[in-house]
Amino acid sequence: MQVTIHNSTFESWLLPSEIAEAVSIIAEQIRKDFPKERIVLMCVMKGSVVFFADLLRQIPGEVEMGFISASSYRGTASTGIVQIHSRSEISLKGKVCILVEDIVDTGQTIQAIRDVLSLDQPKALKVATLLYKKETFLGGDEPDYVGIEITNEFVVGYGLDFDELGRNLEGIYKLKG
Ligand code: IMP
Ligand code: MG
Repeated sequence: MQVTIHNSTFESWLLPSEIAEAVSIIAEQIRKDFPKERIVLMCVMKGSVVFFADLLRQIPGEVEMGFISASSYRGTASTGIVQIHSRSEISLKGKVCILVEDIVDTGQTIQAIRDVLSLDQPKALKVATLLYKKETFLGGDEPDYVGIEITNEFVVGYGLDFDELGRNLEGIYKLKG
């Protein structure tokens, strides 16, 4: 199946069932690593909202939510400049915090967010990402929980956008080259 967004064609790539499977594996890994603890799931807006909502409901026990808004991307190429716009007032001091990202590409966005949140002195600060473009990762801390490792394709759907569109697609689509 194909979709057209801003005059570009995208083709179906990762099915909702594959995504759901990856999400439940991440949830299990997180609960296994922190069996009894209260977990603060921190949603990196806006691309992670869909993944975050699904992951949240797969983790049993005590879970709090927080939100942080950051951006580094314009169109299909990263600007390399990470801006943090806002974050919820939740204190992470002494808590287990899992940052929830839609995709780690160069890794700059998540690194900038990690650096800011670590100033709160959480007991643990981990990163869960649905998608990981390992080839384009520039180094630093690798994500702790990875749903699906992908090749260097530009993708939309399941929260991910191409200039704000495509987030509402249920599956993940890749740009047709
Ligand atoms: P990084 O800082 O290069 O790791 O970029 C991460 C951010 O860029 C993600 O949180 C996404 O918002 C965006 N991004 C990276 N790759 C894609 C993509 O293939 N499709 C849509 N957004 C992307
Ligand atoms: Mg994002």
